[in-house]
Order: sequence, then C-alpha cells, then structure tokens
Amino acid sequence: MNEEQKKWVEDTLGKAERKLAKVSERSAAKIPYSTAQGVHDDRSGDIGWWTNGFWGGMMWQMYRLTGEEKYRRIAEDNEKKLDACLMDYGKLDHDNGFRWLPTAVADYRLTKSEASKNRGLLAAGNLAGRYNNKGCFIRAWNDWGDDDHRGWAIIDCMMNLPLLYWASEETGDPRFRQVAVSHADTAMKAFVRGDGSVNHIVEFDLETGGKVKSYGGQGFGTGSSWTRGQSWGLYGFTISYLHTKDEAYLETAERIANYFIANIPEDGLIPVDFRQPREPAYQDSTAAAIAACGLIELSRLREGRQGEVYLNAALKLLGALAEHSTNWNEAEDNLLERCTAAYHDPEHEFSIIYGDYYFLEALMKLAGKELFIW
Ligand code: GLY
Repeated sequence: MNEEQKKWVEDTLGKAERKLAKVSERSAAKIPYSTAQGVHDDRSGDIGWWTNGFWGGMMWQMYRLTGEEKYRRIAEDNEKKLDACLMDYGKLDHDNGFRWLPTAVADYRLTKSEASKNRGLLAAGNLAGRYNNKGCFIRAWNDWGDDDHRGWAIIDCMMNLPLLYWASEETGDPRFRQVAVSHADTAMKAFVRGDGSVNHIVEFDLETGGKVKSYGGQGFGTGSSWTRGQSWGLYGFTISYLHTKDEAYLETAERIANYFIANIPEDGLIPVDFRQPREPAYQDSTAAAIAACGLIELSRLREGRQGEVYLNAALKLLGALAEHSTNWNEAEDNLLERCTAAYHDPEHEFSIIYGDYYFLEALMKLAGKELFIW
C-alpha cells in the first residue's frame, strides 16, 4: 500500500475502534444479529442462530487491537452462552465453524483455555459427522419442517472447513482434515462454474452421491450468481489453500476472484446477485466485506501485478463501504448498512452482524493487526 492508502486504513480503523468502544458497552450482554432503530437486536432469541459467533469474534479482534480486558470478557460471555447450542443436537449444523471459530477457537488460540478447546473439538466432531461418504460432501442445513435437506450442500460451507483443519492441527488426527479436503474437492467440481461464478446450493443423491440439481438459494435464481456465495467461495478456497497448500484451491479461489473483480460496479457497491435484474437494485454490503478479506489474503500470496490487482480491488470495495454504506454515528450500534440476507426475502438492505465482523477483519488485516480466525 502507498502512504495515502495506509493513512486511510489507519483513519478508518481508528473510527471503527472509537465507535466499537461505545457499542461494546451498550451491547455487552447481547449476541446481536441486526439493529432496530440503531440498537443491536438478536431478532430471534434463538441461541442456535448461525451468526451467533460473530459478535464474539468482533470482541476478540478488538481485544487483539487494544488489549482491553472488557472486550475479552464480552467475547467469553458470548462463547459460554453458546454452550446451550452445543448441547442441543437439533441446533447444530454445518455452521458450527461460524459459531465456534470466532469464539471458542479464537479464545483457545489466544489463551490456551482447555474449556474453549473442548468446545471447538466438540463442534468439529459434530461437523465431521455431517459428512456423506458417497457424495463426499458435508450436509449443510437440518430439515425445515417437511423440507428434506439431507442431500444439500452449500458453498457457504467452505468457510466452516477451517474448524476441521484446526481440529486436525490441534489433535494430530488427520480425519477432520480428510473430511474438509474431500468436501472442498467436491465443491470445486460441483459448485464452481467455468467462468468462475459459483452455485449456492447443490443437491446430491443420498445413496449414490450423484449430483441431482442446483438451486439459486439466497440469490436471484437457478444459474444466478449470489454475491455472498461468490465471497464465501473466494475466501473459503483461499483459506483451504492456506491450510493445505493444494494449488488447485488457490487456482479455484483466483478464478472466483477474477470473476468477482470483473463484476464490481463502477461505484464499488455490490448487488445481492451479479445476475439480478437492473431494478430493484438491491445491495449486499456483507458480500463486499467478505470478498475484501479474501482478496487481501490472495494479494499476500501473489507478488507483482496480480497481487496489486487483488489489493486494489479490496481497497475499492472497502473504500466504497466506508464512504457510502457505513454508519459512523457513534450513538447507533451497527457499522455496515445495506446488508441483505437473501434476494427473495421481504426485507433488504439492513444491518447484519457478519457484515460488521468482516469489515473489521478486513481493516485489521490491512493494518497488520488481525487475529487470524479461520
Ligand atoms: N451462510 C448463510 C448466509 O450467508 O446467509
């Protein structure tokens, strides 16, 4: 980065730090999902909700940045509350990585807490137990009512695999990594298209493992290009490369990255789906923040011009967020605005905690101060 870019990172991270110093005090006892009238809100009261690790993760990043004990206490409180989820089989699913990597595993990495390691390994064991040996994939969600999801895998799972890599690194038992690698290999073939775009959901036959069909999922429709899914793939394959050094994962991450970069609009603001209709022009800031994290990692892996392309794309995404889609009002609790969970949901463009998490993580990466969670 040049001096101007470094200054921008320092100033922007400083603004986030000042805001989070206040927000953390107001929200110390919460596990937020979104905001209502600027106030953090969990919306569902469900301790099993898949995003319930991100607030703890933000607090660990702030602890790393500042060394202030208050952040550590809030993160530990988030982690302990998640024990109610860990003890409820029906609430566990492939999102165990999102729940326990930013909480228990982050805690263990920083403090060597045995209780935290135990939580992380229990979550990893359950995640590995979702593996379908015929289809070589990790089952994503549990069934919703009569909706049968036994054969469903989703691109988002690439971001849960690091829980398995960690479990193998920690225990010396390769089984967890073997499951992760097998799922990643399947995802490379079944989810990533020739042009670098990715499917959200693929259904496999439960007994033969054959591909049944793909679904548009949270994007616009079948064959579309849900931007958060592109981001999960971009960052997820990069992380699988970091853990395995398998060049095929790096090549896949770069293919997705190049597709993503080619589709960034002039203003740097990312739509919910790169193939959505021109109107309504719904945006999703979370996709931009997650992609920026992946692009920064790729920029560290590639020297010269290619590395610069990745870094400049990340800076463009983050600059657009900071200028147009960040709430810098310290009296309100969210950082990012215009986040969207799914294209066909009734609600669009609101605040979502994982957008804030990845925005902070990206700034921390650029400042060289990040706690590596994945
Ligand atoms: N992992 C679910 C989502 O990205 O909305």
